[in-house]
Amino acid sequence: MTTQTNRTLFLDASLVLPTEVRRGALLVEDGRIIEIDASPQSTADQVIQCDGQTLMPGVIDDQVHFREPGLTHKEDLYTASRACAAGGTTAFLEMPNTKPPAVTAEGVRAKDSIAAEKSHVHYGFYIGATPDNVPELNAASNVPGIKIFIGSSTGNLLVDEQAALERIFAETTLPICAHCEDETTVRANAEKLSGTSNLHDHSRIRDEKAAIIATTRAVDLANRHQPRFHVLPASTAAELPSIANQSPYITAEVCPHHLFFNVDDYDRLGSRIQMNPSIKTATDNQKLWEALQSNVIQVVATDHAPHTLEEKAQPYPQSPSGLPAVENSLALFLNQVASGKCTLTQVASWMSDAPARVWGIVGKGRIEVGYDADLVLVNLEEERTIRDEAQHTKSRWSPWNGETLTGWPVATFLRGIEVWSKAAGFSSIRHGEKLLFDHARGGYWATPDGIGIR
Ligand code: DOR
Repeated sequence: MTTQTNRTLFLDASLVLPTEVRRGALLVEDGRIIEIDASPQSTADQVIQCDGQTLMPGVIDDQVHFREPGLTHKEDLYTASRACAAGGTTAFLEMPNTKPPAVTAEGVRAKDSIAAEKSHVHYGFYIGATPDNVPELNAASNVPGIKIFIGSSTGNLLVDEQAALERIFAETTLPICAHCEDETTVRANAEKLSGTSNLHDHSRIRDEKAAIIATTRAVDLANRHQPRFHVLPASTAAELPSIANQSPYITAEVCPHHLFFNVDDYDRLGSRIQMNPSIKTATDNQKLWEALQSNVIQVVATDHAPHTLEEKAQPYPQSPSGLPAVENSLALFLNQVASGKCTLTQVASWMSDAPARVWGIVGKGRIEVGYDADLVLVNLEEERTIRDEAQHTKSRWSPWNGETLTGWPVATFLRGIEVWSKAAGFSSIRHGEKLLFDHARGGYWATPDGIGIR
């Protein structure tokens, strides 16, 4: 009996490999990379002529809020996953603060079923912690990990009582990530500034102190109990000492808005940049960037959290926190490459390889033999201005509206199949699949085959 295989050849691409960028031809068979120095004459069912353009691993965004179920007037898994595909993101890990929140194994399975119907890209869903759902956290299978809101944000998920946090860190086995803003500090600051309608006060209420206290507390829990732990996201320079040089089990991420916006932008952009954790100062922007460069922070993710412009237009503090970002995140970093601030291999590490390794995602995140061909072809020279009306997110706006960036995706592939291109738009068939997680492999500080490197 012969088995039918399907081969795609990506010809004349500038391949962004884990440690170098190399011109070559990439051969994909049945969705998996089988050769990175393939002969241009290789037999294939389909040839994709890359014309020297850059082929990168697809972005894996490990922090998004796609609002389904329950908040689908803001976003849903169809619109959000299209925004992902158009931005070069081939997989996402979604947060549990939907309505109802995903705090049971059943709740997570329900989201998986919706995504199986609707998603244009690969997906996984965190299970949310509550003060008393340890049995549920232990019943969840094939999930990236547990999300704890140590400080509250959109929705009502919150675990800030020490005994409950100790239980979660001690009695569960999945990797853990936490939103780190200290609830007591935030409430005390809000009390002091009660009655304010000044948006600048958002960064005074959710201040540096709130971030440091929560991050230090979470890192202390992680050091004592040793689960895999991921800080989500760092927003201040002051948190960096708590994150740096910690146990190999601890990793951290940063979001584009904490790198590229600061409090001086409130007057220009208003509540479009109201976020939790709040944006901080220009010095924080700089120090966070340096932390990323020096591997104190390993991952870049968006925290894509759309609200409608009508909701955002309410006076502070009624205006909700959150902004959409998945379709511009890769371009924001390619623009940094264009201005010489980082390299393509760094971008691929921060946005693809590191998140895959932090969350034990099997077969994703690299252009390497044996890995899935989840890829994005980019034109490093293309200049494009971000426009609200051109966004695919249901909320149809971007905090970067009006900004011109150099370097944009031109086509996105899942397991070798084009799911979006600038020329042809979206594929009519959806190819998103549930991600596979293998938490035995040891996380970021392990090599892809599971051997510790630190
Ligand atoms: O600003 C935020 N908005 N931060 C979060 O952590 C949640 C998010 C949301 O869901 O709106």
